[in-house]
Amino acid sequence: MIKIGIVGVGTVGQSVANILEKNKKLISARAGKEITVVKGVVSDLSKKRDVNIPLFDDPNEILDDDSIDIVVELMGGTEKPFEIIKKALYKKKAVVTANKALLAYHRFDLQKIAGDIPIGYEASVAGGIPIINALKVGLSANEIMAIKGILNGTCNYMLTKMIEEGVNYDEVLKEAQELGYAEADPTFDVGGFDAAHKLLILSSIAYGIDAKPEDILIEGIEEIKKDDIEFAKEFGYSIKLLAIAKKNNGKIELRVHPALVNKDKMIAKIDGVMNGISVIGDCVGETLYYGPGAGGDATASAVISDIVEIVRAGQSSPMLGFKKPFLSENLTLVQKVDIHSEYYLRMFVNDEPGVLASIAEILGKNAISIETFLQRPSDNNKKATLLCATHECRERDILNAINDIESLPFVSAKVVMIRIDK
Ligand code: NAP
Ligand code: HSE
Repeated sequence: MIKIGIVGVGTVGQSVANILEKNKKLISARAGKEITVVKGVVSDLSKKRDVNIPLFDDPNEILDDDSIDIVVELMGGTEKPFEIIKKALYKKKAVVTANKALLAYHRFDLQKIAGDIPIGYEASVAGGIPIINALKVGLSANEIMAIKGILNGTCNYMLTKMIEEGVNYDEVLKEAQELGYAEADPTFDVGGFDAAHKLLILSSIAYGIDAKPEDILIEGIEEIKKDDIEFAKEFGYSIKLLAIAKKNNGKIELRVHPALVNKDKMIAKIDGVMNGISVIGDCVGETLYYGPGAGGDATASAVISDIVEIVRAGQSSPMLGFKKPFLSENLTLVQKVDIHSEYYLRMFVNDEPGVLASIAEILGKNAISIETFLQRPSDNNKKATLLCATHECRERDILNAINDIESLPFVSAKVVMIRIDK
């Protein structure tokens, strides 16, 4: 019998314990051995929970129990779970985690410490979609040219409800929290950090690159307002939080930001809590993955897949999918300001002669060509909102232009910029 200890019996931990009980016969048959959760650890023992396992409030109850074979870390955070996982590995226990925040910083450390001890983390990216296994195993013959995905269920759920039903930001965030989609601190979701953590994990497998969140462009959805949504609808776009990794001329571009996406594109049709990822390999071409990106049961499905793999095979592939480093080409990251994109700008200005001309002049001076320019009246008839879409240009140029526009005397608020992904 394989004994499991779960550190963190919250949304995902409870689902893992309950599914392992509900589907015990099937899962044990697939794994080849009976699998039983023998202990769980929480921080507050007085909370009411929907599980049938003995609970403790000290992780050492699991770590010091020599009969436990696999430690499942589902508590969240970064440094505390890192200490717990290290101790589990030193004690030669296999580890399964869904913790992308931890992996965004410590995946290479863990690969080194673990050696041949299995660590599974399928649930850390895109909830129930088996994207880690697809990259590590299914696409191992390929040079990965690009990964583009919707990797945060909370943001996708929020944007879908804001666009399709006009629900307001705070209300829809509360809903996502109640449904168990959001992180304990939801600024990780809406600020784009959670999607960035996941992108960094995928790019390690794809490119062997050990980038940290501080190294890449990360923007969230907090600034998306009704005007942007109306512009998107009028011009045939949806708004999605995209995570993008691309290989270009020996450099890797990694970025997370909201984007206006043409409504006819497949990625624009991924709605609600669903995640979707396109991976382009040099041999296979484009492959697509779609499924629930958050929520207790969907995530538990991925956690349990790791447990089953570990029980069956120990671990059939190394943690990050490579046995030797393969950064032979000295891959470096594209600087944030060197990214190229089309852009949408929203500006709040005085409604007076010369305003449009001055803004157009600044854009022209920065080598930015305008595709669309619109003026919307505001409630205050001395003010107007200007909406502008550009042709492709360099990030450095658009940032300089925004800086110049914001210093004009008749521009009365921060300029909002959203990238366009056509
Ligand atoms: P959660 O509902 O907040 O559960 C966290 C659990 O950990 C709770 O049981 C909590 O105890 C326990 N805990 C926290 N700090 C602890 C400590 N210092 N000592 C002992 N126990 C502690 O979180 P979750 O949504 O299940 O997420 C768990 C992990 O899965 C996170 O890393 C998250 O990023 C990841 N994940 C979540 C989802 C999702 O859809 N929710 C999807 C993919 C990955 P109490 O219950 O007593 O507070
Ligand atoms: N908070 C995360 C999300 C959970 O909304 O996608 C899944 O990783």
